[in-house]
Amino acid sequence: DKGNHRHFMLKEIYEQPVVVAQTLRSYLRPLEEMVALPDMEFDLGSVERVAIVACGTASYVGMIGKYWIEQFARIQVEVDVASEFRYRDPVLTPNMLGLVISQSGETADTLAALRHMKAAGLTTAGIINVPTSSMAREVDLLLPTHAGPEIGVASTKAFTCQLAVMAALAINLARAKGKLTHELEREIVTHLRAVPEAMNHALSHDEEIQAMAPKIAAARDVLYLGRGPDYPMALEGALKLKEISYIHAEGYASGEMKHGPIALIDDQVPLIVIAPSGPLFDKTVSNMQEAQARGAQVVLISDADGIAQAGENTIATIEMPKVHPLIAPLVYAVPVQLLAYHVAVAKGTDVDQPRNLAKSVTVE
Ligand code: M6R
Repeated sequence: DKGNHRHFMLKEIYEQPVVVAQTLRSYLRPLEEMVALPDMEFDLGSVERVAIVACGTASYVGMIGKYWIEQFARIQVEVDVASEFRYRDPVLTPNMLGLVISQSGETADTLAALRHMKAAGLTTAGIINVPTSSMAREVDLLLPTHAGPEIGVASTKAFTCQLAVMAALAINLARAKGKLTHELEREIVTHLRAVPEAMNHALSHDEEIQAMAPKIAAARDVLYLGRGPDYPMALEGALKLKEISYIHAEGYASGEMKHGPIALIDDQVPLIVIAPSGPLFDKTVSNMQEAQARGAQVVLISDADGIAQAGENTIATIEMPKVHPLIAPLVYAVPVQLLAYHVAVAKGTDVDQPRNLAKSVTVE
């Protein structure tokens, strides 16, 4: 049932504040001001490396998780798309945690990668939405997302719920590794609890995003830029746009622009810049300005400070609330999803059932 919404995708975008809150509820202990995981026999403190394996949108959660786990827990993380991991003969060492991420829990390549890790003797964990799925049954440690059934082929609410669980895992690894003060944990709990409200704020920009969509819909190519955890967000934005609007789109790490992609820039190419203000902001802005000097039509997604500093000469800005860097990807996902959605609607494509795609890819 789509409720009042025209498409499942839009309904699922709008469900995010509720389902992310629901997911966080099972990982936060507000009274103790702690971030917890389900009970497990396994000692997280023994983890020395993490291998994350997933496909598509879930793999971008893995990439964001790499930033978080390395930053907070100081554990080395590698991330692979499942179809590569299986066949590259990865070096799997004892004390490595194998982590799969999947909405359906049935994606063939991810499931095969999970079995490969188990056969190599790794302890495995899974961030999974469908609790009765093959992966949910086969992982040693199930870290459920509570997004509810996701019908739209383009993953939206599963993505943000996966990020919420990934944050909880990173914080728990950090504590187990002795890298987390209670003070920092308390602060993080406060920031995580602020996510649903910040997502509501992000959703309030829906009409504005709808109004700018026809401009993007007319483009043949669209580029997305981000740095740090916003780099995987750029990849996610590009994947979302291409899968439902069929516009060619690519995501790049902002600093990579001048190593090639800038050659694509002219005044016909919209450039979506995902850049919360913060320590990396100036660097991203200088990459953005290099592109603007070559005619790029920039849409800047940032907060009030960022827009005040760099919003000039853009075709549009989308103002996000000012949030802690840890939760920024959860909030910035909303405008990225809405933009893809409205561009697809403007083009008249079948948003919930894009051509050539299946919701769950159960063949290799
Ligand atoms: O069910 P899974 O999370 O394992 O699916 C992985 C990908 O197939 C999926 O995220 C795909 O990339 C989506 N269509 C993206 O919107």
